[in-house]
Amino acid sequence: MVGQLSSMLEDRGASLHDVARLIGQDPAISAKVLRLANSAHYGRENVLVDLHEAASVLGTKVLCAIVLQTSVVTAFASLETRCGDALRAFWRHSTMIARVADHLSRTLSSKTGAPHIRPGDAYTCALLHDFGQLALLEKLGLSYLQFKQSAEEEGSRLHLVEREVLGYDHARVGGLIARYWSLPDQVVQAIARHHFSPRIVSAYPIVLIVQLAEHLADIVDGTARKGAKVVERELLRYLPLSPDELKDALKRASAWADALNQAPFF
Ligand SMILES: [Fe+2]
Ligand SMILES: [Fe+2]
Repeated sequence: MVGQLSSMLEDRGASLHDVARLIGQDPAISAKVLRLANSAHYGRENVLVDLHEAASVLGTKVLCAIVLQTSVVTAFASLETRCGDALRAFWRHSTMIARVADHLSRTLSSKTGAPHIRPGDAYTCALLHDFGQLALLEKLGLSYLQFKQSAEEEGSRLHLVEREVLGYDHARVGGLIARYWSLPDQVVQAIARHHFSPRIVSAYPIVLIVQLAEHLADIVDGTARKGAKVVERELLRYLPLSPDELKDALKRASAWADALNQAPFF
């Protein structure tokens, strides 16, 4: 992925739209692009969440630097060699939820009384929602990986086990980093609050969209937990989707899951 992005940036014929689309497949690079695009240095009045807008603010030179930096960090941390499968699973999870969130926000945008979230914003927030896991993986390495695997095998909810064992969870860690990096508030909220109950986050439609997208992805992957139906009903109180629209979103999620299972990684 880094190699593909580098050659695309060198190719003068490549459009920013193509570059933004490729960046949108990598949570780590997306976070850096957003952070820089929104930094005071670029003096924007409006907060940028859409990756295409963020990429056009930065321009190809800065994007090149970000890609280079990311590849250096990856090389030094050797995360990919040590935790290749975990990174692949993380990438698939994040991308899948980003696509579903993008679709949900498009469906909702045509409905009266529904929260209006720009699809580009929903994509970015969903892509980065588990960013804290990446940070914990980078810091704690294999021990976090083993910890995550055993939580999954036992069918325990990762963020609850993290709180019990580590005293904090990936949502809190990711939210703190996102705030420290001055990422847009929507992104910070989506990262920090994605494991809160829908009632508590009802004032943040972006978080609700990420939660519903994750719920649909869990159904497709067969990892939905007991009580998921109750959460779904609660989410649908705030996100007015009809049963047919929900069914359609699930069908699309299933198709995207198949496509992602066959997609090459990096
Ligand atoms: Fe997640
Ligand atoms: Fe999470």
